[in-house]
Amino acid sequence: MKNWLKIIILIILIIGVAQFFRPQENFTTADPVNDIANKYDVPMNVLMDLYDGCYNCHSNYTKYPWYYNIQPVGWWMAGHIHDAKRHVNFSEFTTYTPQQALKKFKAIKHEMDERGMPLGSYQLMHKKAHFTPEQYKDVSDWAAKMEAQVQATIDSSNRKQ
Ligand code: HEC
Repeated sequence: MKNWLKIIILIILIIGVAQFFRPQENFTTADPVNDIANKYDVPMNVLMDLYDGCYNCHSNYTKYPWYYNIQPVGWWMAGHIHDAKRHVNFSEFTTYTPQQALKKFKAIKHEMDERGMPLGSYQLMHKKAHFTPEQYKDVSDWAAKMEAQVQATIDSSNRKQ
């Protein structure tokens, strides 16, 4: 057998076997008791933007498309979700200390102003995550407002001490 043919057969075999190793799904049936909206004021339009544009990676409730079942696409997506949740998890947001929340709001505003999120590859596959300039601005302005609010609570608790 020719060498190139052996290599192709080997690649097909590896991809075939890979289908049996699906990454664990990021979905819990528990109530979202620590969701950001339970502690912070999130206007409905911003909440919808976060749902449409961010929650699939930055929450404990990913809605999976069919191609998640194809490897290595599923692993690649699982890696994104893992990294995303380490930075910001909207389902666990109320567990952050004020100092942590402050940093997250700052980072959210930064990502909106720089158009860094939602990830480009995600926008390609999800029309609703294709934000208009208004949506970027809405989320950015909201994050700035939240940042100021959290800063004010930190300042006032510092004064009390
Ligand atoms: C397809 C998955 C995905 C989607 C959708 C997504 N993110 Fe992310 N996000 C990531 C990943 C992956 C990282 C980690 C990036 C890294 O390690 O550089 C991240 C990082 C971040 C960070 C931290 C950046 C930093 O450098 O500290 C913020 C803030 C953020 N995302 C906000 C958002 C917001 C807001 C949305 C929705 C408008 C969103 N993301 C949508 C995958 C996603």
